[in-house]
Amino acid sequence: MSVAPLPPANHRTALGALYQGDCLSLLPQIEAGSVDLIFADPPFNLGKSYASGMDDAVLPDRYLLWCKQWIDECARVLKPGGSFFLYNLPKWNVALGAFLNERLTFRHQIAVEMTYTLPISGRLYPSHYSLLYYCKGPKPNVFSPDRVAMATCPHCFQELKDYGGYKDKMNPEGVSLSDVWKDISPVRHRKFKRRSDANELSLKLLDRVITLASRPGDLVMDPFGGSGSTYAVAELKNRRWLGMELGPVDQIVARMQPANLMIERRYLDEARRELNALFPPEVLAGRRKCGHWTPGNIPKGQPRSSPRKPLQEQVELVLHEEAAVYSAARKNKPKHGDGPKAKKSA
Ligand SMILES: C[S@@+](CC[C@H](N)C(=O)[O-])C[C@H]1O[C@@H](n2cnc3c(N)ncnc32)[C@H](O)[C@@H]1O
Repeated sequence: MSVAPLPPANHRTALGALYQGDCLSLLPQIEAGSVDLIFADPPFNLGKSYASGMDDAVLPDRYLLWCKQWIDECARVLKPGGSFFLYNLPKWNVALGAFLNERLTFRHQIAVEMTYTLPISGRLYPSHYSLLYYCKGPKPNVFSPDRVAMATCPHCFQELKDYGGYKDKMNPEGVSLSDVWKDISPVRHRKFKRRSDANELSLKLLDRVITLASRPGDLVMDPFGGSGSTYAVAELKNRRWLGMELGPVDQIVARMQPANLMIERRYLDEARRELNALFPPEVLAGRRKCGHWTPGNIPKGQPRSSPRKPLQEQVELVLHEEAAVYSAARKNKPKHGDGPKAKKSA
């Protein structure tokens, strides 16, 4: 069957194309088996007001039917071995997971911790979103998760978990990524938040998903553009991308301008400094100073867990460190008339 061509894109970059329109009309015009990775963050049917005027408070059956329609299309356009991620409330993903199980292969249900939601009377405090991860066929073409740093105390740099005590066997490139993501903070600050109706996701989340399930040059699709977080990360990571958004797209277009992308690149680079090492550079330096083991200096025959210093000694060490940080901060404090060249205080 021949596929009707897509309308002219509203915006193009060297790597991507953005279409303003309803994904239910656009998706059928995309060639079957052509997309490597799909990330979908649809409206959650919570009665939000969207600039497109779409109804975000429909009956549950109608919402699920709508989701199933575009999910069917996503499964069709996905390449064999391609990956599909669906970000939604646990309540919807339970039902949509059952639907997806008939079409794709389940890989994981990832809990993305969100600590700033509101408590609901008579319920447990909702603290995570659900991120379903599926692939088409028996196994994904790409599975290259970042490794993450060991959890350490911000004051004394001691590791917080024992990880079985086998520190000499730990991969110096970090701990395996788990299916509970606690380090993805919501985009709250006005300076960074682009559109009030989009529930903009953190670049860190998209970076993690795109790194995990695609290679440079692969085609990444997101049928629900919002503020364009997926497209920005795809562009920065040299993936081709295909975007759709029902509402206005001017903010996405502005975000994709090279000067704006540069700002996002800095943020991504900063976030990536924490990955693929057992300890980020600052923690490593702190551990060395405090005499904790580091990947290069685990003495042979040392017991499985590093013996903890007596409590009094630990407290003294922390106070000493804090005093050192405080005095360094005071030393670097800009004086009147120092101007923009003045060193920032810690
Ligand atoms: C939750 S937001 C996506 C936010 C996005 N992940 C980000 O980080 O900015 C959902 C978006 O889907 C758009 N949308 C809703 N229905 C749509 C449809 N049928 N086709 C395309 N976009 C749609 C909404 O206008 C909204 O901007």
